[in-house]
Amino acid sequence: MTRRVVVIGSGLAGLTCALHAAAAGCLVTVVTKAALGDGNTARAQGGIAAAVLPGDSPAAHASDTLGAGAGFAVESAVATLVAGASAVVRELVTRGVAFDRDATGVLRGGLEGAHSFARILHAGGDATGAAIQQALSAAVRDAPVELLEHAFATDVVVRGGRARGVEILVGGHRRTLPADAVVLATGGAGQLFEHTTNPAVATGDGIALALRAGAETADLEFVQFHPTALADGTLVSEAVRGEGAVLRDADGRRFALDAHPAGELAPRDVVARAIATAMARQHGAPVLLDATGIRPTRAETAAFLAERFPTVDAAVRARGWDWSREGVPVTPAAHYLMGGVTTDLDGRTSVPGLFAVGEVARTGVHGANRLASNSLLEAAVFGARAGLAVGDTGDTDGPGPVRMPAATVAGVAAVTGSTTPSALDRSPGPFSRPELQRLMWRDAGLARDAAGLERAAFQLERWHRSFVPDGSIAALEDGNLLSVARAVVAAAIARPTSLGAHHRSDDIRREEAA
Ligand code: SIN
Repeated sequence: MTRRVVVIGSGLAGLTCALHAAAAGCLVTVVTKAALGDGNTARAQGGIAAAVLPGDSPAAHASDTLGAGAGFAVESAVATLVAGASAVVRELVTRGVAFDRDATGVLRGGLEGAHSFARILHAGGDATGAAIQQALSAAVRDAPVELLEHAFATDVVVRGGRARGVEILVGGHRRTLPADAVVLATGGAGQLFEHTTNPAVATGDGIALALRAGAETADLEFVQFHPTALADGTLVSEAVRGEGAVLRDADGRRFALDAHPAGELAPRDVVARAIATAMARQHGAPVLLDATGIRPTRAETAAFLAERFPTVDAAVRARGWDWSREGVPVTPAAHYLMGGVTTDLDGRTSVPGLFAVGEVARTGVHGANRLASNSLLEAAVFGARAGLAVGDTGDTDGPGPVRMPAATVAGVAAVTGSTTPSALDRSPGPFSRPELQRLMWRDAGLARDAAGLERAAFQLERWHRSFVPDGSIAALEDGNLLSVARAVVAAAIARPTSLGAHHRSDDIRREEAA
């Protein structure tokens, strides 16, 4: 019998999954809360990490991925990721993605932080995500796939311990889409934080849907902060540093070398914290990304920046900076959630019939800190694998029992009970999304400690208990943000020591070492 599949989300992971499931004979519906292409994929600049160039190897890519992940990534998942790269690149080229090549037609690889090889394939200079999104959106419009744009998924229907469909809100009406398999491909949750590179749609909906469906989540404490964003969150690709740009503090000093011998190309969490520390020293003023010296003359630098980074070039020039002459003010911003809905290597979650792919999933490939440009690769590799798995009629049992995320439940309860009155005194006012984002930035951001996390947990619990959604999409998103924030904070409390992107300034191991 033909399998009905509903994919929620329309970035690289969701559309890859939809196309593969349709090719395998499934009846596929893609539900997306905005328009096709409004998510994070289209904003990806640096490119897609793929060990396909001469001199590189999947083993080297795996070793870099495991290293950046602070020893916390799952080796089998990383092996699957890097081994899938050449098929993904072939597929994207076939679908019309014109990766940049040199004069002889050989693919050009860029360098980014913690990579031992210049393996980041890019298109249109720094418009890689836009090129990929355009190609996949066109492919899905041509494929036998039903597309429901501006349709908000309110709940996964779970009956008899199995996902059976999705409740959606579309054009002001509620509808149920029955399905044999439901795929969460909703992207990340950057909107949890005051400063983020993510678009407005990144409100953690998939994780909230999964939590309500009883699916297991993991590693939610690991939030990646991109080192270099403009004040409004506009991304300035790491590839700019890969081409030789350096970071300078207000005195013109290259402070990143103090934090790590690889300086500006150290793992992202290290560079982001080095910037935060430098900013604290200069009373919060941004640091400068200095690209002025990356070519011998100013004219050559200007021409190179415009050709290699047209997106960033347009963004900085629109704000009045000539970055071939002067440094550009940059700050860290929330960028990527390493944790998510726990899956096996084919996207299966702990709830039979429920799958997750892309940023919403926790496949284990990122560990405690994602290696730059591995996210597009993860989306494509695991999107394709899940696209095959959803068509598998043998998939009746899923990999394991349905469990609530232990850290989440226990963490929130423990914190609610232990919060002191002084935490109450400092708590913000009534719930609003900006208040939530400020709280998360301050208390669950780049550097965390027990007092801040407990204060955040207490306030989130209070907001959660008094939260009454008014039925609008914005309120439904707010409810999702609140759920995910509680889970992120609970996970952060449950890990009292620093690891990768989860930095505890009260880590007693540091005190002992000092
Ligand atoms: C960037 O271009 O710096 C972003 C790439 C990524 O987040 O992997």
